[in-house]
Amino acid sequence: MSGATFILNGRSVPFKLGQSILDAARDNGVEIPTLCYLKGLAPSGACRICLVEVTGARSLMAACSTPVAPAMEVFTDTPRVHQARKLNTELLLAAGRHDCILCEANGDCGLQELAYRYGVDGSSFPRSEHIYPTEQENPFIVRDFSRCILCGRCVQACNQIVVNRAISQGYRGKDSKIVTGGDRPYHESDCVFCGQCVEVCPTGALTEKKLRGQGRPWETKRIRTTCPYCGVGCQMWLHVKEDRIVKVTAVEGAAPNDGRLCVKGRFGYDFLYSEDRLKTPLIRENGRFREASWDEALDLVTAKFKEIIDRDGPDAVAGVSCARSINEDSYQMQKLFRAVFKTNNIDHCART
Ligand code: FES
Repeated sequence: MSGATFILNGRSVPFKLGQSILDAARDNGVEIPTLCYLKGLAPSGACRICLVEVTGARSLMAACSTPVAPAMEVFTDTPRVHQARKLNTELLLAAGRHDCILCEANGDCGLQELAYRYGVDGSSFPRSEHIYPTEQENPFIVRDFSRCILCGRCVQACNQIVVNRAISQGYRGKDSKIVTGGDRPYHESDCVFCGQCVEVCPTGALTEKKLRGQGRPWETKRIRTTCPYCGVGCQMWLHVKEDRIVKVTAVEGAAPNDGRLCVKGRFGYDFLYSEDRLKTPLIRENGRFREASWDEALDLVTAKFKEIIDRDGPDAVAGVSCARSINEDSYQMQKLFRAVFKTNNIDHCART
């Protein structure tokens, strides 16, 4: 704490040197709306929704990219500020096709939320003629350019959070467009389909393909869990409708992934509902599998281990524990091999 203060909506409040007005306001319990801001990254200042009044400044200032100075006087909720935010929301609405009822992000859209908050009931600006076809050739992400507000969050997420550099700003002026791999479809670019761009998109420009028609935000409940894949233990939200997962998102601010997921964690949950899932142990007899009870299967495995160890010694057996298991299971597996079977032939598949 520097001990420095500034005036926020008439109140003297502390701030840390180098902080933006936006971060300092949030630290002091004052919310300023944003669309393009991504916590922890350099502000792009693209959306102009976070405008605030600073005494002595000729124009409104973007709170996300304006540093606080000692004794600075800032107002975040004046009629002038509201009017500017409303105008900028109207401009963003005019720049695309925002027919909310048909949009997969309806109810979970930053632009819709702003339009509601500032009472935008249509736009007095002419609609943009640049309506691009929707891209849905890949299995994971639907990209609807007509709902893109060019906030640049997907570009920042891909370049600065995931560091995959598949997405960038393309073209200039009225032709500006978010592009992948020289304006080729996602699946022809360097995209690894981690879906971080979908996670940060504030509108319905980027949505999960598997979510389509499966459930609106208000129909689902969120259940926090740990990713079932590798041993990292990423924290995720399951969005569940009628006991069925319709989407997976990352938990913000939680270790170890802090809002990130990989392609498997975010999109790879279909196996839960696969008809091919094994529901009982299978025992091979005469070249064919037959279903068995767990007691029967475990008795058979025990007998086989005993038979091999009695005949060839403990080093004739080896174990590989699964990286998807919890640490405690892997620990018990190595105990079983070292303490019971008396062999050090035990490994873990996370290195492969
Ligand atoms: Fe500040 Fe977008 S959040 S300009």
